[in-house]
Amino acid sequence: MPTELSLRQPDDWHVHLRDGAMLEAVLPATARQFARAIVMPNLTPPVTSVAAARAYAGRIREALPPGSRFEPLLTAYLTDHTDPAELERGFRAGVWVACKLYPARATTNADAGVSDIEALTPVLDTLERIGMPLLLHGEVTDPSIDIFDREAVFIERHLAPMLQRHPGLKAVLEHITTSDAVAFVRAGSGELAATITPHHLHINRNAMFQGGLRPDFYCLPVAKRELHRLALRAAATSGDPRFFLGTDSAPHSRGAKESACGCAGIFNAPFAIESYAAVFEQEQALDRLEAFASEFGPSFYGLPLNSGRITLVREPRQVPRRLELHDSAGQPVELVPFHSGETLPWQLS
Ligand code: NCD
Ligand code: ZN
Repeated sequence: MPTELSLRQPDDWHVHLRDGAMLEAVLPATARQFARAIVMPNLTPPVTSVAAARAYAGRIREALPPGSRFEPLLTAYLTDHTDPAELERGFRAGVWVACKLYPARATTNADAGVSDIEALTPVLDTLERIGMPLLLHGEVTDPSIDIFDREAVFIERHLAPMLQRHPGLKAVLEHITTSDAVAFVRAGSGELAATITPHHLHINRNAMFQGGLRPDFYCLPVAKRELHRLALRAAATSGDPRFFLGTDSAPHSRGAKESACGCAGIFNAPFAIESYAAVFEQEQALDRLEAFASEFGPSFYGLPLNSGRITLVREPRQVPRRLELHDSAGQPVELVPFHSGETLPWQLS
């Protein structure tokens, strides 16, 4: 059994870095391990203009630990009123690298999202023409659809017809949670890819109810049955370049999680690469971790591979139950990390 693992430095192809004090508190966890990250635009207000994206990138750079070379890759938040010309302008200027489609009200800060996906045709025509990727929160919001079926129904109702109308569209089905999504991506062209989070590889829906109601395991899309988790593990470790790393680390304060109406989101950034390494080891696929974490994402986005390397050492360590992080003014921000209280076998050295 290897005791050390050297990997090309990975990137996170889906993360929520937030803003203000939360940004300052959580950014070091991501910058410690990843060279770049696709940063979600669901702030309040959302990042809908080139000017807002430039300003947000500036705030992220300001909040970086001294000497960090972490590079945020910004995204545009699509609404019913998105101007395709604005998307193109920001893409050509290198301000944002992709855009994000949240069906209206599907998740945290998605109120301003898209209420009529079929009306997006002019936007999608532009994306297809300029080669700008569309990142999808793939869940229907129809309240008559069971929450555990919302991803599968989104694929059938919206994604399949969309890709038929726009065969050249580069799209990423984000944070997939079902065997339906795995099968759909496998059957698609190389223009469709998917990100997979560490939590959906580790937990199934039982985790939310283990011994009581466990808000720290609640996220969207919600974890599904065990058969889906197994399909995700098979996809992530298969060596298929259409499945790559995206943590969907989504911090909410302890108070916002432990509430009568707790927020969706799992804060997995602190031990993300360690979490993926545990899965790949359990699946006897450690030799495929590097491609999943560090190669397939850049190839999809047409970006260079990182030249730096990281080292993981086989040194089991317990994840703290809570993390007291701090903003730049030294104010504490208390968060519960994913794997709270558990022992992970690999550590980033
Ligand atoms: C995300 C958040 O909190 O911003 N929450 C989550 O459960 N993943 C939004 C999202 O990606 O759905
Ligand atoms: Zn997300």
